[in-house]
Amino acid sequence: MSSISDIDFKDIVGQQYAFAERVKQLLKQRYNKTPLAFVHTYGCQQNVSDSEHMKALLVLMGFKFCNTAEQADLVLYNTCAVREHAEDRVFGNVGALKKLKKAKREMLIILCGCMTQQQSVADKIKKSYPYVDILFGTHKRYRLPEYIYKRITGGRRIIDTSSNDQSVVEGFPVERDKKFSAWVPIMQGCNNFCTYCIVPYVRGREISRQPEEILKEIKELISQGYKEITLLGQNVNSYGKGAQHGIDFAKLLRLINGLEGDFRIRFMTSHPKDCTVQLLDAVRDCEKVCKHIHLPVQCGSDRILKLMNRHYTKEEYLKLIRIAREKIPDVEFTSDIIVGFPGEQYEDFLQTKQLIEEVGFYSLFTFIFSKRDKTPAADMDDPVDKKEKSKWFTELLRTQEQISLKINQSLIGKTCRVFCEDVGRKAGYIAGRTNGYAVVDFIGDESDIGRFKTVKITGFDGVLTGEIIKD
Ligand code: SAH
Ligand code: SF4
Ligand code: F3S
Repeated sequence: MSSISDIDFKDIVGQQYAFAERVKQLLKQRYNKTPLAFVHTYGCQQNVSDSEHMKALLVLMGFKFCNTAEQADLVLYNTCAVREHAEDRVFGNVGALKKLKKAKREMLIILCGCMTQQQSVADKIKKSYPYVDILFGTHKRYRLPEYIYKRITGGRRIIDTSSNDQSVVEGFPVERDKKFSAWVPIMQGCNNFCTYCIVPYVRGREISRQPEEILKEIKELISQGYKEITLLGQNVNSYGKGAQHGIDFAKLLRLINGLEGDFRIRFMTSHPKDCTVQLLDAVRDCEKVCKHIHLPVQCGSDRILKLMNRHYTKEEYLKLIRIAREKIPDVEFTSDIIVGFPGEQYEDFLQTKQLIEEVGFYSLFTFIFSKRDKTPAADMDDPVDKKEKSKWFTELLRTQEQISLKINQSLIGKTCRVFCEDVGRKAGYIAGRTNGYAVVDFIGDESDIGRFKTVKITGFDGVLTGEIIKD
């Protein structure tokens, strides 16, 4: 695994800061006001984090943010390619910008992210959406100031889908959306090539950040008052694989847990095949690490799991859950499920249903299989029609609803320390998250947000509700 040196990082960062400064001056001349940017993120937490990095670059260029494309001088869509529906939404929304751009010729339209990392998408945008000014993929997001500079100084449209697999570029600022919860990517890319998934093609090979860079970032966050740190990676528990420093994910968790301060650590997403006993021990031992593991199983049929290239069987997955529960009695699990993978039959689906009943996930993220270009699953026979798959999907949702209901009811009467994340679902209520993954609404005001409270769970009516018993 090669990596570029610190000097190169500084050069890249320095160059982009210089471009940002020049853009700022040019925009000052162009507009007699503070320019406004509308940034919309379509994808997962990794994408949200990428947007936070790009927003910081926009701030360096003098931008403030607005909430609609209509108000904006610059529109940036950070796209997702994981399912067809995500891509359709982007094309629809980009189409709607045509009129705006016609009325406001100087408006800049920028597309980036996973979807635009694909050459086929770049070609389509190039041909059919001539009003898009700048397009780049996931690898070049830090070059935003340079691209904007080139475009506004009379350059041609910029289409750059080249990749940058060898390194994680450090040293750029972040404009975080939240004041108390922070995303911290600890790696990028994915090596797993699950046969349905486009992520490895659009995010490149797995590469981990240096532990000292991660610790430095988290220390800074804690000193700024952040109370919840979520470590991100497509396969977060394979952190450090192949690196010289010998710090794997379990060790990294212990290092972060050792930092001073009252804060919580979460992480996602873990792959079952890399969920080691050492990792479970670290989750058990580290008091700041939340007892929640998002552990996508995808399917309960061994035949389909093999076709998906997931590297575990249903029994192995269940064994892992059993070991985890023995070690960490209060641990909560959540998962992702794909229904209707090519060749899946109702018998396979029943295996999934049986698995989710046996595990008792707190909640599930469920998806109907979506065919993605260039992935092996796109070439597999897919004889079951959409209607049938939808029926299975609904059956799965109903089953999970019952499971979630039982777990929520079993929480009534318990006392938990919650981190107040946001306003609640009813006026006058605040939503706090337990050490696990449950959200509890209780009477409070906005000054509670960003604090820990101890609440007693008193009821469940679609939403868990509770009362503060200790500040
Ligand atoms: N790296 C993570 C997340 C990947 S994307 C992981 O491995 O879990 C999030 C979820 O989207 C996946 O877990 C999977 O359930 C779903 N997904 C990915 N590709 C899909 C596809 N082609 N069709 C339907 N769902 C998909
Ligand atoms: Fe996709 Fe599999 Fe990688 Fe997750 S682990 S990003 S599902 S290839
Ligand atoms: Fe989508 Fe890319 Fe995330 S494809 S789910 S934004 S890694």
